[in-house]
Order: sequence, then C-alpha cells, then structure tokens
Amino acid sequence: MKYKTMEFEEDALILLDQRKLPERVEYYRAENYEQIIEAISKMVVRGAPAIGATGAYGVYLAALEFQDLSSSELMAQVESAVKEINQARPTAVNLTWATGRMLKLLRSSRYKDRKSLLRILEKEANNIARQDIETNKELASYGEKIIPQNANILTHCNTGALATVDYGTALGVIREAVRRNKNIHVYATETRPRLQGARLTAFELVEENISATLIADSTAGFLMQQDKIDVVVVGADRIAANGDTANKIGTYTLSELARIHNIPFYIAAPRSTIDYQIQMGSAIAIEERGPEEIKVIGRERIAPEGINVYNPAFDITPAENITGIITEAGIVDPPFSLGLAEIRKK
Ligand code: MRU
Repeated sequence: MKYKTMEFEEDALILLDQRKLPERVEYYRAENYEQIIEAISKMVVRGAPAIGATGAYGVYLAALEFQDLSSSELMAQVESAVKEINQARPTAVNLTWATGRMLKLLRSSRYKDRKSLLRILEKEANNIARQDIETNKELASYGEKIIPQNANILTHCNTGALATVDYGTALGVIREAVRRNKNIHVYATETRPRLQGARLTAFELVEENISATLIADSTAGFLMQQDKIDVVVVGADRIAANGDTANKIGTYTLSELARIHNIPFYIAAPRSTIDYQIQMGSAIAIEERGPEEIKVIGRERIAPEGINVYNPAFDITPAENITGIITEAGIVDPPFSLGLAEIRKK
C-alpha cells in the first residue's frame, strides 16, 4: 500500500492513525511504551499482526526507558511493562506472541553492554515487522488458489495492509488474486460498531483500484440467498488448537450464513495467530469495549444515554463452519486439530 501502517525511526514508532481514516492521513508518534499502550487500546493501530509488531516495539521502548537501571531492575520493569502492553487488547494472541519473543531474547541473550542489548532488541522488533510482510505474502500465494476466476468474495472487518505491517491476510489473499490477473469482485461489510470495513477496507480497495462494493453487515445474508457470493475469506485474532476461531464480531454469523448457503468459508492468518495452549474457542478471552462505540457514530449520538449496551469486539466461529485455514505453511483442511499440529512442526 502507498501508506505505511508503521515505521520505526529515531527511537519512535510512527503509526498511521487509523481512527482518522479515510478523511485524514495523520500519524501518531509513540516515543515510549505508555504511548504504545495508548495506541493499541485506543485503536490508533489495530488488526492482530499490526498489534503484535507494535507491541514488540513497545518492549524495545520500555528497555530504552529503563536502560540506566541495574540488570535485575531493568528486567523487572520491562516484564511489568510487557504485562501492561499485553492487557491493552486481550484477544489477539499475536500481541503476547510478539512481546513473548522479545522477552525471551531479553532473558536469554548474552550481550557485552547495554548498548548491544538495546541493539539486539531493536533488531528483533524490526525482524518481527519485516517477517510479518514476508509471512503475509507467502500466505497470500497459497490462499489465492481458493479464489475462483470471476469470484464474488465476501470479507469482514479490515485484514489488509492496515491490519498488518503490510499486505494483509484475508485482504492479502484478495490482493494476490488480483495481482495474478483474476477477475474478482469484493463485497466488504461495513463492520459495526467501529466500521473497519467502511473506513479501512474500503479505503484500501479504492486505493488499489480493486472492484468492490460496500454493504451493511445485515446485507450479507440477502446477497448469499441470491447466489451472489462464491467464497468468504476473513482473518483471525486467535485460533484454538481445534480450529475454533476468534475474529471480529459478526464473523460467526457470516460463517453460519455461509454454511446454510453452501459457500466455502476460509480463515486467513499467520501461524502466530494460533494459540496451541487453548484447546477450544470457549476458552478464548473476548474483549468487551465501551458503550460509546455503539451509541455514538462519529460525533453523533444515535442512542439514548440511559440504554444498556453489550459490545463484545470478537466472536467465536466453530471449527465445523470453517472450510480451511490459510497460513504461510499452506492451507490447513479439517480436521484442524491434526492439520494445525502438523504445521507447528514445519
Ligand atoms: O478490532 P480490530 O480492528 O483489531 O479487529 C481486527 C480483526 O478482527 C481482524 O479480522 C483480525 O485482527 C485479523 S487482521 C489481519
């Protein structure tokens, strides 16, 4: 994409402020780990892989902040910073995966002095960011095979360059199909309440000149009933060992609709999204966000102050509704417990 989701320069992470898109292209500068936490929790940056890479830079910035402390104090401070970073958004496992990778290096690395420790950590955060782009491209080259020529594809939320360091997962698969000259059309759901589909996916599709139509979330079933959707491809925030998948609220509903209408339903996600510690979806912690996301659109209040609100950010799609899980190690077919265990070893 023309715009970079994130760029690390001079000990600060520059994030494209996704709260402002598509009206304004503005950047948010995170110079310490507290600002990283704010950026993740307030959704300046969002999307599982993008949150992961941002968290990794947060660990480096924490080490930078505490570099003058003794080794044991530095370790204690960074570990406590990591706990806070991980809590910024609890569902996407990519966050704990990336901060865990940074912590592991911090605990195990042998370094001459503080300067070299900081260099190692900065390099690792850069590796996580760079590898995310490579992983997405590999994943997309497997995934585009499930897109038939002349397909109408339904996608949900934003899983594109903005949800990752670049290229995207489910939207990366779509990008790759277009790059390989497939004639396709995308239906993007607006994705209430935060409107990632309307604001971000539509922004990327227009930027890339990909043939697309924006629909209200509630239109998906009607389109399927009219035989207008050939395949559904969405991303994931955490995949349990049995294939149950947490993704943006509304994904489960789409998976049920796809099942009823006999439409293939794919998840596209890097292996860092698979949580092998969790055996099934019911054990995944689902983030609940504030009521204002539902009661206010833009600056306009659309619901009375006194109303109760339930606002889970994600739901769980059961493995039996999923046709395949597209990863950088190939497409995993059901039964997922076996297939996911297999790609762990690759
Ligand atoms: O709340 P968000 O915008 O962070 O939710 C994003 C999603 O649900 C995506 O589908 C998921 O993170 C995969 S992004 C490649």
